[in-house]
Amino acid sequence: MSKEFKRYTVTAALPYANGPVHIGHLAGVYIPADIYVRYLRLQKKDVIYVCGSDEHGVPITLKAQKEGVTPKDIVDRYNKIIKDSFKEFGISFDIYSRTSSKTHAKTSSEFFTNLYEKGEFIEKTSNQLYDKEANQYLADRYITGTCPHCGNEKAYGDQCEACGTSLNATDLINPKSAITGNAPTLKETKHWFLPLDKYQPFLEKWILEEHKEWKPNVYGQCKSWFDMGLQPRAVSRDLDWGVPVPVKGAEGKVLYVWFDAPIGYISATKDLTPDWEKYWKDEDTKLIHFIGKDNIVFHCIVFPSMLKAEGSYILPDNVPANEFLNLEGDKISTSRNWAVWLHEYLKDFPNKQDVLRYTLTANAPETKDNDFTWKDFQDRNNNELVAILGNFINRVVVLTNKYYAGEVPEPEPQEFRAADRELKEQVSELKETIDKNIETYHFREALKNAMNIARLGNKYLADSEPWKQIKTNPERVKNIMYMTLQLSASLSQVFEPFLPFTAKKIRDMLNISETDWSIIGECNLLKQGHLINKPTLLFSKIEDIEVEAQVNKLLETKKANEIEQAVAKPQKENIVFDDFTKLDIRVGTITEAEKLAKTKKLLKITVDTGIDVRTVVSGIAEYYKPEDIIGKQVSILVNLEPRKLKGVESQGMILMAENADGSLAFMSPEKTIINGGEIK
Ligand code: 2FM
Ligand code: ZN
Repeated sequence: MSKEFKRYTVTAALPYANGPVHIGHLAGVYIPADIYVRYLRLQKKDVIYVCGSDEHGVPITLKAQKEGVTPKDIVDRYNKIIKDSFKEFGISFDIYSRTSSKTHAKTSSEFFTNLYEKGEFIEKTSNQLYDKEANQYLADRYITGTCPHCGNEKAYGDQCEACGTSLNATDLINPKSAITGNAPTLKETKHWFLPLDKYQPFLEKWILEEHKEWKPNVYGQCKSWFDMGLQPRAVSRDLDWGVPVPVKGAEGKVLYVWFDAPIGYISATKDLTPDWEKYWKDEDTKLIHFIGKDNIVFHCIVFPSMLKAEGSYILPDNVPANEFLNLEGDKISTSRNWAVWLHEYLKDFPNKQDVLRYTLTANAPETKDNDFTWKDFQDRNNNELVAILGNFINRVVVLTNKYYAGEVPEPEPQEFRAADRELKEQVSELKETIDKNIETYHFREALKNAMNIARLGNKYLADSEPWKQIKTNPERVKNIMYMTLQLSASLSQVFEPFLPFTAKKIRDMLNISETDWSIIGECNLLKQGHLINKPTLLFSKIEDIEVEAQVNKLLETKKANEIEQAVAKPQKENIVFDDFTKLDIRVGTITEAEKLAKTKKLLKITVDTGIDVRTVVSGIAEYYKPEDIIGKQVSILVNLEPRKLKGVESQGMILMAENADGSLAFMSPEKTIINGGEIK
């Protein structure tokens, strides 16, 4: 028997306020948590959903340094963008706080002091990497180098993003300062360490024995940490941005961001309610942390050790961490701009928040990394949302308006059929399955089940054909429409956790305001005689041209990245001057150009070289249209042996420069030169 809890505290990882949020954030953390809390609220449970911006740490100060602004400028900017995006996507936090708040400074400082006074920390002086030129210790992302585990040359001082391993800055091979690029030196400094090794026996029992139900990725990652043996972990840093270490003689030191950030959940709860303690200190509260897989160690090992050391807090009942979402086959990356940013999505697809919520849930990276593709997004919208859910609701509302002027008809007891009973039973069964799936954090499956309810509705309509029976058996049609109206009411509840905007639209069409999970599968929410509203469209088709535009945007990003990361080819062997003078390169003007028939890449170009007017075949058709290059001055190698290309004699070669993505550009003189002018 699983324990009955009195209330729920649901947290979603605090995003770093160093950039906007993208689809990976939504799919991995905020949508699953939102589904869960909306589901609980529909059951009138006592639940709080807390989050906020993570505003300390090196990701923030690095960004500020890069832009030449203050860390405060950065967090103020992105806190607003992030908060707005979440709101627009219906992420229903009870509070979205900030770790730069006064409440948080006080809470995290007191938390540290409490452990400090209890003697829970080890105080240690050690050598840390230091940048002499920048006059700064190089904590975490201030240092990059080669990962000792996978060889990735761009690993950070705290983590390798390629293999996911959590690192110490001193582990890196060939370390380099992210500020100056210099090789660091070592310099002594004092820090406070949390002895995780001391908590290992407790953690092992708590996770490996008492929480075997945790997701395999979470359980497995914890186990491998235990197998390696936990080590004391520094909880302070030599930085000037963060919560100051509240100890005498600790000037210039702040709490490590991973010490203060999870305490941010507690500070946020304090900002939400004076009654915050019951959500954190009562064994009858179920605490659940929704996170991405890169946060597992901090939420399953470090934060629980902190809570345990403090002594008065509850521990999480579950930490449902998701894997990562990729985008069109490639890892989402802020620095490479390989992402679908939520604020940009909304500009391109206004009012289509639920389409993205649906796609991201249907394809959520629950058990393995998954891929978001625009084609899948389009298919899910057109073939599922429009064709199944939208179609069903639309038919019911249209027919009710048509047959009964929008009034819910009175069913005839003698007209009930086996199909009606079966429909009700199937919906109730699906509801139970959805309950089980949501309660065990299987949201993809739960969404599929919910969609199956709409499918059942469509099948019921197709089988019972009210549009035919209205002429022959209008009494039976009353029952059919009554059943489908009740089913629509069920759908307005069952989709509330997944597609809140759509569920509200369905309720508006049905002219109801109730939100109640228990009516799913029941047949009495819409009373006979109740007036529903006129139909409005729930979803509209997404056209090829719209997704092509998104794919093209990504292709542009890919090109820009290739160009930015391109490395010049090594120099060829030296030649003597005479070799060079053999090349007769002139300035010429293009007078005619046309596509060479039956080829993709070739243009037939006429050039006035000053010496003569000649024909050159050039492989530039992918980059230039014939009409755009007429009149252009180019460089042409005129004494190249003529050769035939696709039946046309090419008398020379137009010189082109090649870009990293393979595209070509003319080498044109910077000002007009006479045709025949020599290039030397
Ligand atoms: O990985 C991140 O984006 C962190 N900012 C998550 C922090 S979660 C919590 F502990 F605050
Ligand atoms: Zn690595």
